[in-house]
Amino acid sequence: MMQRDVIIACDFSSKEETLNFLDSFKEEKPYVKIGMELYYACGPEIVKEIKSRGHKIFLDLKLHDIPNTVYKAMKNVAKLGVDMTNVHASGTIEMMKAAKKAIDDIGAETKLIAVTQLTSTSEDVMHEELLIPNGMQETVAHYALNAKKAGLDGVVCSPLEATIVKETCGEEFVSVTPGIRFADDAKGDQKRVTTPAIAKDLGCHYIVVGRSITGAKDPVAAYRKAKTEFQGE
Ligand code: C5P
Repeated sequence: MMQRDVIIACDFSSKEETLNFLDSFKEEKPYVKIGMELYYACGPEIVKEIKSRGHKIFLDLKLHDIPNTVYKAMKNVAKLGVDMTNVHASGTIEMMKAAKKAIDDIGAETKLIAVTQLTSTSEDVMHEELLIPNGMQETVAHYALNAKKAGLDGVVCSPLEATIVKETCGEEFVSVTPGIRFADDAKGDQKRVTTPAIAKDLGCHYIVVGRSITGAKDPVAAYRKAKTEFQGE
């Protein structure tokens, strides 16, 4: 049975703000995403602190460099004992393999996924600026297959591509999907967005929700709403 969960993107710039936010959750322990903003402000200490509070952690640092550098950096990430982390698929299969080897060499259980195309990139920009001629669906599916060939556990993609990723890489290949908004929210800088309910219908394993929860008047209520929409029957 496929597991589905909501991951909250804790895009804050300080430890105080982050822990205050997490303190508002009394009954549940949400799965937390620590991204570049928080990690570059607070370093590995914030990972250890949130982990010690019992949250699962997705460390979203999107590594993209030469394979040797990624291997060494990923060893340090793996030592933190996070549940999930990622690299950019555009870094090549060789780079993704190096990242996977680092996790295996440390003996960590960390799931490794690859960013396919950022959900802030439109298909037009991908064609005209990045000079990728193929369509978004085809490009994401191809990058996902590269990630699978490198031995990774899944990808980050838009919910709109979750179906083709499944068709290409199989039911078990994890899709983690940001670009989630409630029906009445603003899109912000995200382009390829959908609601938690639609993400569920499209077969996403995890949805990453940032501003729609962290910027809500009542974040706990917004989290529960996302969970119900995404996990409900
Ligand atoms: O606030 P919002 O819900 O747009 O936050 C989405 C989060 O997911 C951000 O932390 C962003 O860095 C991350 N993300 C993304 N698109 C990707 C990969 C990660 O939006 N392809």
